[in-house]
Amino acid sequence: MTKSEMTGDVYYPSQEIIDNAHVKDWEKLRQEASGNYEKFWEDRANELHWFEKWDRVLDDSNKPFYKWFINAKTNISYNCLDVHVKTHRRNKLAFIWEGENGDFEAMSYYRLHKEVCKFSNILKSMGVNKGDRITIYMGRIPEIVVAMLACARVGAIHSVVYGGFSVEALHERIEDSQSKVLIVADGAWQRGKIVPLKEIADEALQRAGGIEHVIVVKRTGQEVNMEFGRDMWYHELRSLPIASNDCAMEVMDAEDPLFILYTSGTTGKPKAILHTHGGYQVGTYTSLKYVFDIHEEDRYWCAADPGWITGHSYIVYGPLLNGATSFLYEGAPNFPYPNRWWSMIEKYGLNILYTAPTAIRGLMRFGDAWVKRHDLSSLRILGSVGEPINPEAWKWYHTVVGKEKCPIMDTWWQTETGMFMITPMPSSPLKPGSGTKPFPGLEMDIVDEDGKPVKPNEEGFLVIKNPWPSMMRTIYGDDQRYVDQYWTKYPGMYMTGDSARRDEDGYYWIIGRVDDVIKVSGYRLGTAEIESALVSHVAVAEAAAIGLPHELKGNAIHTYVILKDGFNASDELMETLRQHVGHEVGPIAKPEKISFMEKLPKTRSGKIMRRVLKAQALGQDPGNLSTLED
Ligand code: PRX
Repeated sequence: MTKSEMTGDVYYPSQEIIDNAHVKDWEKLRQEASGNYEKFWEDRANELHWFEKWDRVLDDSNKPFYKWFINAKTNISYNCLDVHVKTHRRNKLAFIWEGENGDFEAMSYYRLHKEVCKFSNILKSMGVNKGDRITIYMGRIPEIVVAMLACARVGAIHSVVYGGFSVEALHERIEDSQSKVLIVADGAWQRGKIVPLKEIADEALQRAGGIEHVIVVKRTGQEVNMEFGRDMWYHELRSLPIASNDCAMEVMDAEDPLFILYTSGTTGKPKAILHTHGGYQVGTYTSLKYVFDIHEEDRYWCAADPGWITGHSYIVYGPLLNGATSFLYEGAPNFPYPNRWWSMIEKYGLNILYTAPTAIRGLMRFGDAWVKRHDLSSLRILGSVGEPINPEAWKWYHTVVGKEKCPIMDTWWQTETGMFMITPMPSSPLKPGSGTKPFPGLEMDIVDEDGKPVKPNEEGFLVIKNPWPSMMRTIYGDDQRYVDQYWTKYPGMYMTGDSARRDEDGYYWIIGRVDDVIKVSGYRLGTAEIESALVSHVAVAEAAAIGLPHELKGNAIHTYVILKDGFNASDELMETLRQHVGHEVGPIAKPEKISFMEKLPKTRSGKIMRRVLKAQALGQDPGNLSTLED
């Protein structure tokens, strides 16, 4: 049996890994799918259950509004649950959950199915109908999964807002989605403290109309305000006769919406990315199976948050579609000590760990001893997502965590793509820092300003040249913005917003965003959200935000502020403004630094030139300044 080995900068997986993998020859699969992607996806779709199959795989008659699995009938919740409870998986664990405070729960497919039916019946009793929007605002607890699947089951569209977001972010998302029901937890444990989710929600609801019912899940148990006639405890609803164990499935068209998820774009407010039942299930099911090589006996851990796309696709839907056992952990990686993660991997015998470079760098900082205290021999495959992984972190992850035997799946993708786009599989040779090549069935390229392919190793804009089933369908309520933002700059090609280069071997190397999106610790934020939070403070007249490189976070937020007359710059005001952004958007959006300015560099039409601020901060040449106001 050959061992895994590192030759120069290329890592080759062991024969054992390859022999056990669903895909033993990734290049062969890529070739098979190339130019024949409809057939590739159709074959994968046939592995799932459909109430009625499609007339056609793809309808591209109204580009870029692609449709997949035309006229097929399905419900993703059926494939996640009902399919499994009819088989040997009935009593298999769907989730093993550990709270930050040590609470524990193990939930079989049988039980999860029942809980989802109960929740679905509660939603129905509140008059929730197919197509209604429901906002979910909770921490990492099993009930968030139950709530999402219940929405899917009754045909409602869930809009999950990450529990780390705060008042204004939540308000904006509730209002934009016109949600009728809010599902919230009383609080969440984070670093030994309670994040007061219900309290934040109450403040957001004072700003937003439209919510008729609030379902409150008890997690932390502190006193919360319950508004009579609007707010109801989940555990009380759950014990009513209406919350029975059976709930008929809403039969959905493959193209019916499953969820919207807000994400930051180039300009303006966050946009609601829309995904559908049919194509999304085919994409997430297949990509997780092939890339993390899910087998029946595996215990898989995606350490992301269900509130982001990584959690939607690879905590909730992908694993359940595969009938996998997932681990879910509520709290901070280093609480109460920096070995928390490693101790849980040992305790539960987890086989797969999927996380973000920022978490790896953060844990690496505490030194190897914390890791080495634990037996991590159960690990077989590791994963990375959210931002480029620096070779130093890759090597630490590979050697200290993976003991040089676990291939690292560096997966590049986006909220919009729904699934992994550039990714290795366990049989792929790896280069630290590269996501390797596009997933089978995808044609991607790197182009210049005019949309022409660049030469090997030249930096350019990353584009996708053909459709895939789990692609976003539109921006909810704003088709034009979907066309403008993604499909207009390079006609016929999807613009990712990232820059990248491709080496002689066809391996892709992601460089970073080319727009006003800042990836902070892998979280996606828009300059506009941070700026409008600053400007909403009485002292601020104008504000600009940029991202600057940061050792741990990848990027950190730096802001520039012009004060209104009558306010003076001070350390105290700086701290007040930081807290204000934290309160409005969320702790992740708090600026690293605030500089008080007299003026901001602007174009003659009044647009802030963030690239000039960035170049100045980095001591670089600001480039062409001909459009600068003065
Ligand atoms: O810039 C890329 C970066 O994250 C962006 C997408 O962010 P979001 O929609 O929040 O989804 C994150 C999780 C899928 C991309 O445009 N990104 C994501 N994965 C990687 C990455 N950058 C480099 N390497 C990755 N593996």
